[in-house]
Amino acid sequence: MNRSSSDNKHGRINEIIEKTGSAINGGRYPLEIMNNSDLYPLELRRIFGQAWVYMGHVSEFEEPGDYARRYIGEDPFILTRDENGELHAFLDSCMHRGAQFCTAENGNTSHFRCPYHGWTYKNDGTLQGMPHMSEAYQDLDDEEITLEEACLETYRGLIFGRIAEEGPSLEAYLGDFTWYLDVLFGATEAGMTVVGEPHRWESSHDWKTSADNFSGDSYHVLTTHQAGLETETFSKDPWEELDDFPAASYLACTDRHSIGYYLSEDGETFMGYPEEITDYLNPELSAEQRELFGRSVFHFGSVFPNMSLIHGIQSGGWGGPWACIRKWNPRGPGTTETTSWWLVPKEFADDESFLSDSHRGWESLSPGGAFESDDLTIWEGISNSSGAVTHELRDTRGNMQQGMGEMTDEVDTIEDPLHGPADVTSKGLYFDERNSRTILQSWYEMMSETSKSDNDPEMEAEP
Ligand code: FES
Ligand SMILES: [Fe+2]
Repeated sequence: MNRSSSDNKHGRINEIIEKTGSAINGGRYPLEIMNNSDLYPLELRRIFGQAWVYMGHVSEFEEPGDYARRYIGEDPFILTRDENGELHAFLDSCMHRGAQFCTAENGNTSHFRCPYHGWTYKNDGTLQGMPHMSEAYQDLDDEEITLEEACLETYRGLIFGRIAEEGPSLEAYLGDFTWYLDVLFGATEAGMTVVGEPHRWESSHDWKTSADNFSGDSYHVLTTHQAGLETETFSKDPWEELDDFPAASYLACTDRHSIGYYLSEDGETFMGYPEEITDYLNPELSAEQRELFGRSVFHFGSVFPNMSLIHGIQSGGWGGPWACIRKWNPRGPGTTETTSWWLVPKEFADDESFLSDSHRGWESLSPGGAFESDDLTIWEGISNSSGAVTHELRDTRGNMQQGMGEMTDEVDTIEDPLHGPADVTSKGLYFDERNSRTILQSWYEMMSETSKSDNDPEMEAEP
């Protein structure tokens, strides 16, 4: 690409980013930002290169040597616990010629041996040795050779990694959203634990589409999942027992992350957990967090950029609450590999009857679940049409205006400590798209912030 076409591309990318920033204030956005091959490399650098990205749960790495392959953006990392109990995330790239040294998805090992020339690393990232070391590397500074490592921090058992060496602490990045993570992942004293291996599947949808969907889009359920919801299996209690359904629905968003939830009037709902849950409650919860958890029916939400969650009573009405973490791994423009974890409170991890109820969450949301293919078909269609040249040439705008200005008198802003520190509205799940706007606002802020950098390789002229 010559200098002038590169400048044109540079200008065009910035134009899309900046017009997204101004359009979102009016509840609109350029549809061309989905499945966009020009924006995608910037998303990897400016969002996934800078943000705290969910990588796994501490319960998956209880023993020294436990490891699993996990991604930040498209970068393959090996998340592991070393022999001293410390967690690390190493880039799966040997410091000799860059070969991937880990060939399994997960396992337990004290060392990683590169399959190319045999350099071997301890699971703390330091070099153990290599073939013919004493003859071939007599003057090697072997202490200087350590695996490249992401920054790691945890909150309530959730492990987040960051590629950028500088940036806010995880708690600062999560901000007020920690209040809700306390309720969702720290409601019992022992915390949550992952059951089994996470599911993984690839689909042709943009990671932003699914993060948006899980952030608070109940509006789609009535249409996208109508057929499933009319079957006997999924139309039963307890949803029908909520007399004021959907009046008891709320949206809460902080400046970057968002959640939607349904509450009952009954303070002892506890997402459908067995009665013993009250014996296990975490004394660290505030009175408001305790009450919110007690009245909770179902929660879902998204932590920017690509972690989503579900926690609550299943719509089938069999009583077993289900907790699920989703991660939307970008795999090229308009393509995502989903990783999906099932979690339960540790106190119930050996309760077979509880597990068999909870396990049924996979029946609705998993590759073989009744609702998953409904969503995927729609999300892939968005990816297909968003790449249309028409959107680019005609500057087509999508709509996220629900809940803005005079759009509805249904949505009320709530000032009540029961709902925590975020901005909260009632009935927002059906009449307010503020959570979706929050995601795009976060996208804009991260994409735009570094666009001023002179050192951004994407903005250099291509040869
Ligand atoms: S690339 Fe790993 S040992 Fe050579
Ligand atoms: Fe859905």
